[in-house]
Amino acid sequence: MSAPLRIALAGLGTVGAGVINLLERNGGLITRRAGRPIEIVAVCARDRSKDRGIDLSRYPWEDDMTLLAGRADVDVVVELVGGSDGPALALARRTLAAGKGLVTANKAMIAHHGMELAEAAEQAGNGAGAPLKFEAAVAGGIPVLKGLREGVAANDVARVYGILNGTCNYILSTMERSGRDFAEVLGEAQALGYAEADPAFDIEGIDAAHKLAILAALAFGSRIDFGAVETTGITRIRAADIAQAEALGYVIRLIGLAEGAASQGGLFQRVQPCLVPLEHPLAAVDGATNAVVIEGNFAGRLLFQGAGAGDGPTASAVVADLIDIARGVDTAPFSVPVEALEARGPADPGNRLGRTYLRFNVTDRPGVLAEITAAMRDAGVSIESLIQEGRPEEGGEVLVVLVTHEGPESAVIQALELLQGSDSVIEPPLVMPLLA
Ligand SMILES: NC(=O)c1ccc[n+]([C@@H]2O[C@H](COP(=O)([O-])OP(=O)(O)OC[C@H]3O[C@@H](n4cnc5c(N)ncnc54)[C@H](OP(=O)(O)O)[C@@H]3O)[C@@H](O)[C@H]2O)c1
Repeated sequence: MSAPLRIALAGLGTVGAGVINLLERNGGLITRRAGRPIEIVAVCARDRSKDRGIDLSRYPWEDDMTLLAGRADVDVVVELVGGSDGPALALARRTLAAGKGLVTANKAMIAHHGMELAEAAEQAGNGAGAPLKFEAAVAGGIPVLKGLREGVAANDVARVYGILNGTCNYILSTMERSGRDFAEVLGEAQALGYAEADPAFDIEGIDAAHKLAILAALAFGSRIDFGAVETTGITRIRAADIAQAEALGYVIRLIGLAEGAASQGGLFQRVQPCLVPLEHPLAAVDGATNAVVIEGNFAGRLLFQGAGAGDGPTASAVVADLIDIARGVDTAPFSVPVEALEARGPADPGNRLGRTYLRFNVTDRPGVLAEITAAMRDAGVSIESLIQEGRPEEGGEVLVVLVTHEGPESAVIQALELLQGSDSVIEPPLVMPLLA
């Protein structure tokens, strides 16, 4: 039996404790598959006295997280602290500078600093290189990065997209089932532990955008460009939108989508609520589940689905990375060396074709519908259906829902610009593409 792979765990929260549990429970089979044991030689968190539901007495405790990187007995540091910058980033930099491997579940850090860390990993150990792995950072337990890096390595990938945030998916599918409004369902999700006390990262789409930026880099061989991900969350979706979508044969899902076709000029990256046709596999993805679709030119449409968070699934991805390192599997973090990754600007929305759902809140007075349809006509948007919801008292607010025929997205943007000064349109319309 070869020498053990010696790891230090930084962070003993949900994921850190999950990793210890998994290594303890599946140690025998992991040793067989990795060809050597994976041994925890140091652990670290903020509060040593906290009850974490696991027996930590047999693992050496390190008070200062930054010291883990310099320990002579550590081969790989596992960063499970979180945060794009701060202590996690400092530890990641030190670890790679010390020539040691780094495994992390930290999507925020990889989305913001992935290129720097990948370069540091290449240069580590005087150019010998050190492993940098982050499977758990995208879609928790689903091996989608491995799928992109290895499974579809022979394909030209046209697009990658999916449901990347379990909290949003739980809220949307609960709204769908119960007919209740967003704020009420969010409150319930927080009480049940499906949403954080501060849910902004999830419901504003930022968490999904972190994951999409990483997926896009791997799918299209491009440098991570988190700043170029256009991001809209789910906070403006009403029970009425869900009902309208259903009447049209759709469900609403928060979709992160990246397209890299050369014809688009640049890389398209967007997180946005979309109408998903009922017959599409993503429409059936319910609750806190994640799912990612990869479309390869030879593999066709592949669907990866499973738990995108939680101690067990996330630990499963972290330990899979450790097993790869123990086996000596040595793939570049972004499949190719960093200098071979392309820097691609954002795609031009004028080149995007599609159908769009638009929901206007308007003052109920004569001429409102004519004003909206005139703006659509003037911008060259062809209307497929138009529905006016309810008729409250004269002068009250009504909802007007409009679905366009397929056309350029730029025309819809132009029509909305024409309506910007309107006295009848109460708030900016809700715009959702129909997923094709
Ligand atoms: N939770 C999930 O389902 C999930 C899924 C995918 C990816 N991730 C990612 O995994 C990472 C960890 O998430 P988590 O949910 O496990 O977080 P968590 O439960 O909040 O745990 C964070 C851990 O980091 C420790 N910590 C924080 N600051 C520290 C410092 N300065 N020095 C030493 N230890 C410090 C905390 O110590 P104390 O316990 O002593 O406070 C805690 O043990 C994040 O990057 C997250 O995005 C999580």
